[in-house]
Amino acid sequence: MGKIRKLNGKLIVPDNVTIPYIEGDGVGAEITSVCHRVVDKAISKVYCGKRQIEWKEVFAGGKAYQLAGEWLPQATLDAFRDYLVGIKGPLTTPIGGGIRSLNVALRQTLDLFVCLRPVRWFEGVASPLKEPQKVDMTIFRENTEDIYAGIEWKSGTPEVEKVLRFLMDEMHVSNIRFPQTSSLGIKPVSVEGSERLVRAAINYALLNHKPSVTLVHKGNIMKFTEGGFKLWGYALAEREFGEQVFTMMQYDAIKKEQGSVKADEALKEAKKSGKIIIKDCICDAFLQNTLLYPEDYSVIATMNLNGDYISDQLAAMVGGIGIAPGANINDENGYAIFEATHGTAPDIAGKNIANPSSLLLSSVMMLKYIGWEEAGALIEKALEFCFLKGKATHDLARFMINGESLGTAEFGDEIIKSLNGII
Ligand code: NAI
Repeated sequence: MGKIRKLNGKLIVPDNVTIPYIEGDGVGAEITSVCHRVVDKAISKVYCGKRQIEWKEVFAGGKAYQLAGEWLPQATLDAFRDYLVGIKGPLTTPIGGGIRSLNVALRQTLDLFVCLRPVRWFEGVASPLKEPQKVDMTIFRENTEDIYAGIEWKSGTPEVEKVLRFLMDEMHVSNIRFPQTSSLGIKPVSVEGSERLVRAAINYALLNHKPSVTLVHKGNIMKFTEGGFKLWGYALAEREFGEQVFTMMQYDAIKKEQGSVKADEALKEAKKSGKIIIKDCICDAFLQNTLLYPEDYSVIATMNLNGDYISDQLAAMVGGIGIAPGANINDENGYAIFEATHGTAPDIAGKNIANPSSLLLSSVMMLKYIGWEEAGALIEKALEFCFLKGKATHDLARFMINGESLGTAEFGDEIIKSLNGII
């Protein structure tokens, strides 16, 4: 069995590849075993024994704590570094200090700066939208900066008092409304952090022939952080991607000099010639627009907090968190951890009713990432086939007209049956 490597910007993937995985807490064991069965079956059907995954278990969360007294052992981080690409189930948030969130710790330690969330609708799945088939978006959420960096001080502590004194005495900040009782947080947003995220989004759009990249921000209010993200994103697009893109900054410049008819013509011409349109949208308007005009958006590049809200809304538009896949990636060195986007679902753990689709579709993303697209496409087709027949776990089946609720393991059997039917 071999390890994935990244050489000269390209992933080198052996035919017999080892993939480290974290089973995860709560429903993790149930959904992981279904995924392994389905993925192994799809690979063996498509590649007839020429390709294979060896699943290597590594530990984090409750299982790691029980085995080694640590929530996130160094050996697990080393394995993800060593094997480059891995996958994980949901992890419980440790209670009682040390690590705030295992997911955030993994992302920060491995510098997985892109949180990638493709959002598409599967025919047969109930949606609150009238025309869910118009939803086809891919979210690039910045993972390492913003208010999520975890730099904050609690109200009433000597630390917050020190920061307050600095702000008020040295920086002459006068608009902290209730300084005596305020907690404070810091929102770091850098040029490099914004640029590498936007670069990854544009590269993805080019590779996958997507029509546009939208920079989503609240730069109208937070001018230097979110406004910076927007301006740095536009500047990078023009500087690094030149003729491959047409930005709305360029549109505005033409409009100012030559009028809106010329600007509209230039935009039309850019679309016709296959250039990627780089535009931006204020986050609140964006959330509204995605419900009203989902077809207007394709690749989304946004910051950490906005990305969190956007991911859940878009997931709800196509069936909810039980079916939304995701990955955390470092586009530069190739590190990637694919993951179920939902939590440990303690209320249904051990009951054989959890939906394995989020982790399974994350496995599909992983197969595409390593260049085994055919196996990934087969799984997607089989899943769609099941949904069309109304076969799904209870969370989805209860909203389907012809819905039949299956247990987690039985749904796995049904997907495999569909795989066998397709090839
Ligand atoms: P949750 O996502 O675990 O559950 C929210 C609701 O969605 C529950 O009703 C649950 O039954 C349902 N649900 C979740 N996954 C499902 C699935 N696969 N199939 C069917 N229904 C599903 O969120 P909650 O309850 O806020 O968090 C529980 C734990 O998970 C916490 O410790 C939290 O920190 C952790 N968590 C971990 C995440 C991760 O590892 N990526 C993400 C979110 C939460």
